[in-house]
Amino acid sequence: MKPFKKALSTLALACGLIGAGQAHAENLKIGLILPLSGPFSTIGKQILDGVKLYMNVHGDTVAGRKVELLLRDDTGIAPAVSQRAAQELLVNEKVNILAGFGFTPAAFAVAPLSESTKTPMVVMNAATSSITTKSPYILRTSSTMGQFTAPNAMWAAKNGMKNVITLVSDYGPGHDAEKQFVKTFTENGGNIAAQIRMPVQSPDFSPFLQRVKDAKPDAVFLFVPAGEQGVAFIKGYRERGLDKEGIELLSTGDITTEDLIAATGDAAIGLKTSFTYSEAHDSDVNREFKQKYKAMYPNQRPTFLTVGGYDGMHLIYETLKKTGGKSDGDTFLASAKGMAWESPRGPISIDPETRDIIQNVYIREVKKVDGLLQNVEFDVIPNFKDPGKQP
Ligand code: PHB
Repeated sequence: MKPFKKALSTLALACGLIGAGQAHAENLKIGLILPLSGPFSTIGKQILDGVKLYMNVHGDTVAGRKVELLLRDDTGIAPAVSQRAAQELLVNEKVNILAGFGFTPAAFAVAPLSESTKTPMVVMNAATSSITTKSPYILRTSSTMGQFTAPNAMWAAKNGMKNVITLVSDYGPGHDAEKQFVKTFTENGGNIAAQIRMPVQSPDFSPFLQRVKDAKPDAVFLFVPAGEQGVAFIKGYRERGLDKEGIELLSTGDITTEDLIAATGDAAIGLKTSFTYSEAHDSDVNREFKQKYKAMYPNQRPTFLTVGGYDGMHLIYETLKKTGGKSDGDTFLASAKGMAWESPRGPISIDPETRDIIQNVYIREVKKVDGLLQNVEFDVIPNFKDPGKQP
């Protein structure tokens, strides 16, 4: 460098001019809306664990912008609370990105605000298929109900089950799971003996278990949201002897999550579920993820929710790198579409057409591995798109 130029650049550096664009770039404000209290607080907590882990591993600055999390508790299935939180985050805090969304009703309630303000909205759990159609600025890093229900129905048909009862929570994801199971199972030659819906909040499973037991189908297909309900259902299924009647329990992996499987205990052994993430997933990326997770949370186990939050942050960070720090809706979305990477659950990508996630779906069986109950993957449907968006 010529002496004059050098002197100028030294002066500029001293005055803080060089790199000013970077040093003074506005913080990237992420409004994170999650259920952090009430009966479903474990859902929000695990997503938040994943978000914080990502920032711990990758730092709190991306593309020259410091990442600031603004956390709001929407208490679970309370769409008005989620919507108020989003409004306040957008208007008062001027957040650049909305993220989180443990429950479908929360995502539905906030989608119109994402659309009207052109704010990127990263869905880290809510799984009803149509969510991504409610704003062109929505991206999803979790999964859709149809995505892991169709493989479950195919597996049931292939394994000799002819007559199945569906039993689902009576709200968006339950309806999607029911619709997909019925469609795929009947297309593969199966018969649906009954379609039963249960209240999503504090259900008493006894009458439903009894109804299934009396009807004696080959299997019952279940969806309830992740949390204590799965523990109660599995115990009820064993205690009422549905297993002894030869009624198989088929479910999405929401009932055998790693955080609660110890509470279910040996009653979970042998259950077959279809899902996206298992702590036992055999890959180097997952091994490294678990090692970092253990270092930060030594007394916990990671779940699909942790991974949904972790991958959501990955999508935000990598998109920001591509846009050179720009976070406006149109620039952000154009760069996020088609993004592909290896997650702890396996290879994933963002479908450029639907902005939904494409991923492997695994069929797993609960087994004891080194003294821990694990979802051991034994079959995989690779790079599976949401079938719920097809007519
Ligand atoms: C949802 O509301 O979309 C939802 C909640 C919990 C789950 C799955 C889906 O475990």
